Amino acid sequence: MPTMPGLDQTARAIVADGKGILAADETVSTITKRLTARAIESTSDSRRAYREMLFSTPDIAAFIGGVILQDETIRQDSSTGIPLLELLVGRGIIPGIKVDTGVHPLAGAPGEFVAEGLDGLRARLEEYHELGARFAKWRAVFIIRDGLPTAKCIHANAHALARYAALCQEQGLVPIVEPEVLMEGAHALEQCEDVTGRVLQAVFNELFDAQVSLEGMLLKPNMVTAGLRCARQASVDEVAEATLRALTRHVPPAVPGVVFLSGGQDAVLATEHLNAINALGGPKPWKLSFSYGRALQDEAMEVWRGQREQVPAAQRMFHHRAGCDSAAALGRYSG
Ligand code: 13P
Repeated sequence: MPTMPGLDQTARAIVADGKGILAADETVSTITKRLTARAIESTSDSRRAYREMLFSTPDIAAFIGGVILQDETIRQDSSTGIPLLELLVGRGIIPGIKVDTGVHPLAGAPGEFVAEGLDGLRARLEEYHELGARFAKWRAVFIIRDGLPTAKCIHANAHALARYAALCQEQGLVPIVEPEVLMEGAHALEQCEDVTGRVLQAVFNELFDAQVSLEGMLLKPNMVTAGLRCARQASVDEVAEATLRALTRHVPPAVPGVVFLSGGQDAVLATEHLNAINALGGPKPWKLSFSYGRALQDEAMEVWRGQREQVPAAQRMFHHRAGCDSAAALGRYSG
């Protein structure tokens, strides 16, 4: 597996010194659901205004090393006429792009999904690199239910993640590899730990076979938690210990950074979990940081409400939460 100096540098810069990632790559349909749930109209201009509010938050680059965009946003200009992507680059934030085209039912595997988007991916990556993206994201999902996920589903998604990652590196983009074991369900923490371990092992087996450079990628996993409908919710310390155990067992030390998704966790809990993971003793060869969507944005979107006069207050809220998550990425969050 060759190392790739440019990619290594980019991967390390994204997670340097208490920095993490803002996942702002919701598809038009997902962001529309989140906006309309707060009675905010979803138009291409309101989505631009919302993302511009986040990206232009004063001093946010101290906490945010990279932002994941999606296809609409990477082509949009700010209210002052510069591309939103340039707004990020000008502040020292590395722009990335979501490139999977969503999850679709997996043939022969009832109730399970495979992330698609490999067809034509090389040309799309080439264009995104040209537009200025320097990393990419591909998200696969796994459901825990009686007998699920199946080995077939794990293998299909792990294989696609590896093909995506290899194509990204060929095109000079750092791949974020995101295998997400969903929190929906009544499963116990132990089941999540078992499934997360199996998924991570399969993903790294496929990455090895595809000759992906581990130094030039980032892993974006779920934390190991009990299912949302499980009667016994695990403590913060239990989540931290089970999460670190799964990573230690299945993630090679050559990977420079592990950036967790928030997956529907409450914003404060997502901060507390990340802090507890970083505060644990024992070997932690990777940066352990965040790539949160909802946990970074929900409070700010609530304050913004689509109103121009609310921009400074929403930015203060976003700055506060990103600052908490940055401290947690260093194990220094204190509530
Ligand atoms: P959440 O943190 O809201 O899970 O989003 C992260 C993400 O990018 C999911 O693909």
